[in-house]
Amino acid sequence: MEYRQLSNGIKIPVLGYGLFMVDPLKSEEYVSQAIETGYRLIDTAQVYNNEEGVGNAVKKSGIKRDEFFIVSKIWHTNAGYERALKSVETSLKKLQTEYIDLMLIHMPYNDYYSIYRALENAYKSGMVKSIGISNFDTGRYIDIIYNCEIKPVINQVEIHVFYQQEYLQKAMQEYGTEIMAWAPFAEGKNDFFNNSILKSVGEKYNKTAAQTALRFLIQKGIIVIPKTVKIERMKENFNIFDFNISSEDMQLINSLDTKKALIGDFTDIEYNKYVLNIKL
Ligand SMILES: NC(=O)c1ccc[n+]([C@@H]2O[C@H](COP(=O)([O-])OP(=O)(O)OC[C@H]3O[C@@H](n4cnc5c(N)ncnc54)[C@H](OP(=O)(O)O)[C@@H]3O)[C@@H](O)[C@H]2O)c1
Repeated sequence: MEYRQLSNGIKIPVLGYGLFMVDPLKSEEYVSQAIETGYRLIDTAQVYNNEEGVGNAVKKSGIKRDEFFIVSKIWHTNAGYERALKSVETSLKKLQTEYIDLMLIHMPYNDYYSIYRALENAYKSGMVKSIGISNFDTGRYIDIIYNCEIKPVINQVEIHVFYQQEYLQKAMQEYGTEIMAWAPFAEGKNDFFNNSILKSVGEKYNKTAAQTALRFLIQKGIIVIPKTVKIERMKENFNIFDFNISSEDMQLINSLDTKKALIGDFTDIEYNKYVLNIKL
């Protein structure tokens, strides 16, 4: 495993296991398999409804809590300072832990400043070890930077070879905010796993398109949290620390960038309405 250091000094694995759309009833089993494979960073959220499964798996693993890096996120329907703070307590209970390593504002909707104030308070009281944001574009990001007391250590956004968001990454570097890529496989869209460039570059290193795509992002300084419910794929996605993509091949993969969101298009009113309508 490789690590990065967050701006608050905390160490974070560069590869984690994501739980979006993972059946709450199966989440414990899958997270246990991920832990067995070697994953220690686990990405869940209040709205995924599988924090409990994560908590069970972590507890039953017998591995020391401080070896894990657990990420969760506050949903926009929990906006309001008191409500947001209470929701952190609920997440702690479900995760069966005394602290969450990183808690994010899931979406920049509703009164998200009240959520951020609650996160700052939760950070001060030790309920969470780090705080951050998700799905913040450059404008919303810089506004948070200008109006917060404690800087976000992470912005979790859609990033994959087809949407690399280099501009956002550069803008955030100035303030020490790291990028965590959601949908590092673009959720399989655009025939991702059969992409000819990913496949031909991967063949040079004896790696699959999936492994090549993850390694590419990690080499760009991005933390990745791929999701799979198949143990063989968990292993495949974990086996990316024994090769380096050359700068020439990095350039080739760079050329896949369309500079357009494939999944979370926040300029699309229908996408925004869809997310706003999701209640806990
Ligand atoms: N903050 C946010 O708003 C936000 C939004 C979306 C996601 N996320 C986080 O980011 C994580 C990852 O994103 P995601 O789940 O949307 O998409 P993703 O990781 O890009 O793609 C997951 C898809 O790829 C398949 N897959 C995984 N490994 C594979 C492999 N080696 N070969 C072939 N297919 C493979 C999975 O199928 P199988 O499961 O069948 O293997 C699944 O269909 C989420 O789980 C969640 O934790 C956050």
